[in-house]
Order: sequence, then structure tokens, then C-alpha cells
Amino acid sequence: MAKFEEIGTASIPGSRGELRLLQRNDEFSIRIAGKTGELMNTRLHGSEDALAEFACERVAGRSGARVLVGGLGMGFTLAAALKTLGEDAEVVVAELVPGVVEWNRGPLGAAAGRPLDDPRTRVSLGDVGELLRREPAGFDAIMLDVDNGPEGLTHRDNDWLYSPQGLATAQEALRPDGVLAVWSAGQDPAFTERLRRVGLLVEEVTVRAHRPGKGARHCIWLAS
Ligand SMILES: C[S@@+](CC[C@H](N)C(=O)[O-])C[C@H]1O[C@@H](n2cnc3c(N)ncnc32)[C@H](O)[C@@H]1O
Repeated sequence: MAKFEEIGTASIPGSRGELRLLQRNDEFSIRIAGKTGELMNTRLHGSEDALAEFACERVAGRSGARVLVGGLGMGFTLAAALKTLGEDAEVVVAELVPGVVEWNRGPLGAAAGRPLDDPRTRVSLGDVGELLRREPAGFDAIMLDVDNGPEGLTHRDNDWLYSPQGLATAQEALRPDGVLAVWSAGQDPAFTERLRRVGLLVEEVTVRAHRPGKGARHCIWLAS
């Protein structure tokens, strides 16, 4: 089997960390420099798709639905949101690492069908937490997949997003009857409890990385 070759690196603002983009034939992998394992792989996106499908199905009937995806990664959640929503929707995608946006505009883009080229997509470069603070009652749905889940890896400050303050800010950024959807690599009962304590109604869904029925069990919270 061919070996992965590194084809790019991108520094993570606000930290000394770096992301690496690797390619093996038509397969891409994003890793955190100095850590073992992958952050993302183009062959594994069943639960990233499901994050958007579950959240956007709930709001797709609204005229002019406006949703937020944080972050971009390999673009699968963004692509699934665009597929689920109508022609008059707007999908804002917040991405902290400028290099990730460049990769998606370049070699990585075809994997998810080039969702950045969709006229309904707006890119917001920077921390999704800051965007949430700037946009009270701004979104019908908010989909968060900025890390491995409530136990962050890429960016220390992401802990804030999953804290009671971060969750309250996300709740304030929702329009009436909006939905907050959060992806995680695993279950986290303390996080479920935290969502409930800020006053959200919570549903927890287990989704396999390879759908249907194969691969690791990822967790998606749907809170409204
Ligand atoms: C696990 S990936 C997202 C995968 C994505 N759901 C997909 O379908 O490919 C996490 C992404 O969030 C970005 N990120 C990390 N912290 C962030 C933050 N605070 N604000 C915005 N983006 C962030 C990372 O750079 C990375 O691109």
C-alpha cells in the first residue's frame, strides 16, 4: 500500500501547534503535529455528515434558514448541511486555521464536493466562540465539531466552548426553536448534564464512523 506523504502544514493561531495535511492516492489525512493518530480522514465522515443532517433536518423547512458550522475540517459537515437545506439558506462556516480553508480551496476540496464554492456558503475566519458572542439570535442551527469533543485537542481555548458559559453563549446565538448540535469522539455524561443545566432539552445519538453500522462509535448531542 502507498505511504502517506505530507503535502502541507498550517499553524494554529493562538498556539504553537501545527496541523499537517497528508495524502495517499485519493485519500487525505489531517493530523496534529507531534501527536499520534488522525484528527480527520477523508474515508471516515459518516458521523460528520450525520451532525449536519440531524441538525439541519429540523430547520430545513424555515424560509431563509441560517446555520453555523464550526469548524470546516475537511468540509463534510458543511457539504451535508448544504445538501439538507434549501436554496435560500445561508451556511456560515467558522474556521480557526487559515491553512485549512486554503487546503479546502485546493487539493482537499474535491473530497467533500467543493462546498466552499456553493453560493450559500460564507467563510468566517477565526474562533467560532467569538463569532457566537457577536451573533445573538443569529442562527437556526449551530453545529460544533471543532475538536475531539468536549475533551479538546487542537486548541486549548476550545474548553470554553463546552463550558457552561460557552454553552449559554451558543444558546443565546440560537433563533427561537433553534438547535445546537455537538459532535464528540465518545460519550461524555458530564457534558450531557452540563447541557441540561443551561436549560437545554438534550437528545444523545450514537453514530458509527463508517455508516451503516461500522467503525468507531461517535456521539452527537442535539440540544434545543
Ligand atoms: C474535527 S475538524 C472538523 C471536521 C468537520 N466536521 C468535517 O466535516 O470535516 C475540526 C476543525 O475545527 C477547527 N477549529 C478548531 N478550533 C476552532 C475554533 N475555536 N473555531 C473555529 N474552528 C476551529 C480545526 O482547525 C479543524 O479544521
